[in-house]
Amino acid sequence: MSLKVTAVRSVPAATDLIAVAVSSDSANAKQLSARGLPVALLAAQGFTGAADQISLVADAKGRAIVVIGVGPADSVDANRFRRVGAQAARAASRVKRLSIDVLGASADLSLDGRSAAAHALAEGVVLGSYRFTEYQSDPKPSVLLTVTIAGGGAVRIASAITEGAAIGQAQNYARDLVNRPGGDLIPAELANEARRIAKREGLAIKVLGLAQIERLGLGGLLGVNRGSTHEPRFVEITYAPARAKGTLALVGKGITFDSGGLSIKTGEGMMSMKMDMGGAAAVLGFFSVVTLIKPGCRVVGYIPMTDNMSDGDAMRPGDVLTIRNGRTVEVLNTDAEGRLVLADALSLACEAKPDAIVDLATLTGAVEVALGGRIAAVMANNDDWRNAVEDAAAIAGERIWPLPMPTDYRSFLDSDVADLRNISRSRGGGTITAGLFLQEFVANDIPWAHLDIAGTAWSESDDAETTKGGTGYGVRLLLELARSFTPTVRRR
Ligand code: BES
Ligand code: MN
Ligand code: ZN
Repeated sequence: MSLKVTAVRSVPAATDLIAVAVSSDSANAKQLSARGLPVALLAAQGFTGAADQISLVADAKGRAIVVIGVGPADSVDANRFRRVGAQAARAASRVKRLSIDVLGASADLSLDGRSAAAHALAEGVVLGSYRFTEYQSDPKPSVLLTVTIAGGGAVRIASAITEGAAIGQAQNYARDLVNRPGGDLIPAELANEARRIAKREGLAIKVLGLAQIERLGLGGLLGVNRGSTHEPRFVEITYAPARAKGTLALVGKGITFDSGGLSIKTGEGMMSMKMDMGGAAAVLGFFSVVTLIKPGCRVVGYIPMTDNMSDGDAMRPGDVLTIRNGRTVEVLNTDAEGRLVLADALSLACEAKPDAIVDLATLTGAVEVALGGRIAAVMANNDDWRNAVEDAAAIAGERIWPLPMPTDYRSFLDSDVADLRNISRSRGGGTITAGLFLQEFVANDIPWAHLDIAGTAWSESDDAETTKGGTGYGVRLLLELARSFTPTVRRR
């Protein structure tokens, strides 16, 4: 399915469904009838313009209209436009041609505000029409083929729409990777995906196999891989523009399936564990569209890939691993495997002396307890860099919230036999101690931020632009972060 999203001046005559937005301030008889909308029919359905109300009606000309409530007019922001785009696309899943006539609601915004609205609207359209049908013998995908966004006459608006749609596709690609079963998307296959992206986008790529991983001493990745019959991979992928302004390193956790290893999970607990490469998917989603966004900085992605299984020679509780940077780790719970593979990746990333690092990882179940399924946690060794990540997240419409890095909690990771242990001695604060563990593998003069996306990488329900299964969380945030990157953040 390839959906075409284009900008037009006004709603074309040949269309199957028209989406309009109505705020709770404009849901009165006078304004509705001035717009040709059926006042009595909408009233009978209890339509008040409240956010997320959706009503299918015919207008005065007999055209099919989906009326979407957006709440109070002054609450309408880019995130609302993203939702509206997705809600319109969902309503139009049984027709071929949709026209969206909602940018008028942004008429009192500046051109910047209107392009941001159009950008988010196009993202929403692409995200809302996503279906994962690869494994269905009788798939029922959205049949929507063309979406025209009215009010997109200006060149700036039209290019915002093109870009928003492309970013939506990149996020959908990350969703596809997450949704693919762990038995099919084994490490070698995930690495092949990275190769495909690199080839298509003209990026440099290194794919390390078992022998090279051994030679480099990636002891964390090797330890986790010991219980698997599939070889590990380590991918390094680079976008390098001419006259690059600084280097940004992106690290993504690529556990293609997490059974817990010998510290095995429950059946219930592993049902969604094909999503444990959600960080890797976000990084690859980023690279899949980076040449369109053209950030001014170099960006290098570091992705360790393995599954976490329990074959005969699996890593045992009590085993000690030596990470790339020489630190030793006593593994007391084989299910705390993400931090082991990230330790190697962060060490390698630091050796290249980037100007800043961000890692994304489905690292702890505790983050979902703390923040729920829609907000990721961010931790950092540098306040300016954490602020930059938070700003990028806000612009991209991906929610994050900071957690502290209390230095006294570090002692919870003290090991009796090695440099540190891989689980905390203390109950509670599991997301924080995981972050503190990672910090041990980051040079302290390199600004670093860690995003725990264990709650946000996967959704149990459909809601506007969010679809059940992989969410593709992080792709938009990373694109915005790279776009706005200036290599000035330095540790004091
Ligand atoms: N991949 C899991 C974290 C996870 C849990 C992601 C639920 C998504 C949903 C991670 O490898 C893990 O198992 N973490 C353990 C850490 C514990 C053993 C310290 C956890 O959260 O239970
Ligand atoms: Mn685990
Ligand atoms: Zn895991």
